[in-house]
Amino acid sequence: MRKQIVAGNWKMNLDYNEGVSLFSEIVNMVKDERKGNQLAIICSPFIHLNSLAKLGGNDVKIGAQNISDKESGAFTGETSAKMVKSVGAEYVILGHSERRQYFAESDALLAEKTKVALTHGLTPIFCIGETLDERENGSYFEVLKKQLVEGVFSLSDSDFSKIVIAYEPVWAIGTGLTASPEQAQDIHAFIRSEIEANYGFNIADDTTILYGGSCNPGNAASLFAQKDIDGGLIGGASLKSRDFTDIIKALN
Ligand code: G3P
Repeated sequence: MRKQIVAGNWKMNLDYNEGVSLFSEIVNMVKDERKGNQLAIICSPFIHLNSLAKLGGNDVKIGAQNISDKESGAFTGETSAKMVKSVGAEYVILGHSERRQYFAESDALLAEKTKVALTHGLTPIFCIGETLDERENGSYFEVLKKQLVEGVFSLSDSDFSKIVIAYEPVWAIGTGLTASPEQAQDIHAFIRSEIEANYGFNIADDTTILYGGSCNPGNAASLFAQKDIDGGLIGGASLKSRDFTDIIKALN
């Protein structure tokens, strides 16, 4: 069953008290707005996970923004899937363009991280997206297909059925330049068709595909009204409780 999801990506923002305070506001607002089949998720820095998991209950689920591809050991500074699961995280963002760009995370590394996440019962929110150059030179379908094939299309039917895909055009992230509903729908339909070609109609139809990139209360409804857009992965607007809640209200 395809889920409708609005997931917030706080990125590297909010100290401990700021995070707990904002999250408490979000929980209080979301619980009156979220319909039964809709999911609200906050993906926070590691420092917040344990406290937010205790506060979120069934109204707002918790996710991490990264995990190591390693299980444990001498990897200074890394955090494992088992660790984030142990403090209450249920989701993890993988493949975000900022990880790919700033931390050189390759498709192969992300494929491994996705498998490790699934092994530990975490639901990957797997991000793909093209750069402005790739959009302008027309290579974006090829780029997106490569990210899918090398990132997640080696998963079994059962494992692929557990993941969420997020389409985040890099040129729309943090820029205020949102993809139009038509542009986003074109890409979401393409992603779903590629999933169908690899896993069949039922798995493709059940896959949640989120849009991310300057999604806000003003444009969320027109994006979410598109046939193949099942919600959003929200950056800046997730740092404001009213905006994040209004985006959840925009789920049809
Ligand atoms: O992961 C979501 C994020 O990349 C989108 O950021 O600020 O454009 O909503 P923003």
